[in-house]
Amino acid sequence: MKLLDVPDHARHANMRLVLPLLVWGAWRLTRAQLSVQALNCLIHQCVELGITAFDHADIYGGYTAEAQFGQALALSPGLRAQLQLFTKCGVAAVSAARPAHQVKTFNSSADHLAACMDHSLTALGTEQLDLLMLHRPDYLMDAAETAQALDRAVASGKVRAVGVSNFSPSQVLLLRQHLQTPLAVNQIEFSLGAMQALDNGVLDQCQQLGMRPMAWSPLAGGAVLGDNDLARRLNPVLTHIAQVQACPPAAVALAWLMRCPTRVVPVLGSVRIERLRDAWRATQITLSREDWYTLWAAAAGRQLP
Ligand SMILES: NC(=O)c1ccc[n+]([C@@H]2O[C@H](COP(=O)([O-])OP(=O)(O)OC[C@H]3O[C@@H](n4cnc5c(N)ncnc54)[C@H](OP(=O)(O)O)[C@@H]3O)[C@@H](O)[C@H]2O)c1
Repeated sequence: MKLLDVPDHARHANMRLVLPLLVWGAWRLTRAQLSVQALNCLIHQCVELGITAFDHADIYGGYTAEAQFGQALALSPGLRAQLQLFTKCGVAAVSAARPAHQVKTFNSSADHLAACMDHSLTALGTEQLDLLMLHRPDYLMDAAETAQALDRAVASGKVRAVGVSNFSPSQVLLLRQHLQTPLAVNQIEFSLGAMQALDNGVLDQCQQLGMRPMAWSPLAGGAVLGDNDLARRLNPVLTHIAQVQACPPAAVALAWLMRCPTRVVPVLGSVRIERLRDAWRATQITLSREDWYTLWAAAAGRQLP
């Protein structure tokens, strides 16, 4: 069945970057304090499971997470070739690792992006990034300059595909009108605990332009399954559907995202392999329309109008 009428330029983008069903994210990596060997083991376990794409940002772990991941990759020659490496740039955080940053800023200037990209390539120990995203919209963005920098990154072969993160629909259109390279993704906050993308036009735009949404914090940082009012509303529904589908409640919460017509790609945050195995079950179920709206109502705390 043909799900989407994808415009030609978007087909081109998808040929460049075939997104997997689930991505693993490195934001919590340094806090988990894994040894390089343990991280290497986790990467292998992810690959065996089917999670072959890894989401980074230069700033994660105070600019240390990419290098930690790169060291873990280097323990297994040949492993890099089995993976897709994504990263984000354009946030200039105050850090001992970047003494030039005296104040936190968003920076989408060509010089800053080129320097970030080179840092990420070196830290990850790779010659090419599969996807480079602008981490946050920069209110001082000169769209023509930023677009040229991204096009240059692709033309140089250092990057296969480009995307954005946390961009509004108008910010996407602004950047896109200057870009030769199609924007492949918009990585946004989206979960049963953060449903704004359903109404703010971001998912509509992804469907319209053939961009893929990636959902960050897809379990709302664990809040969807935690001890709070949202989780208490969701729990009976998640548990019931999980029993019927014979899968963990976390998989149902992720399948809810993946049921959207834009084929949302959740970016998983857990560093525990058993939880990533639970998450993978989401790829094996499809929620009915009725279950999807029942979960929406439980999350929203109100019925449909
Ligand atoms: N683009 C952006 O601006 C942006 C912003 C934030 C994040 N991100 C990306 O999104 C990724 C995921 O974000 P996230 O870590 O907030 O995602 P998440 O999957 O919503 O949250 C993961 C957290 O939930 C906890 N958790 C509790 N119960 C869980 C269960 N049953 N299954 C799985 N996890 C459970 C995990 O703990 P354990 O580790 O103990 O399992 C972990 O602390 C990040 O790594 C990063 O790549 C991007």
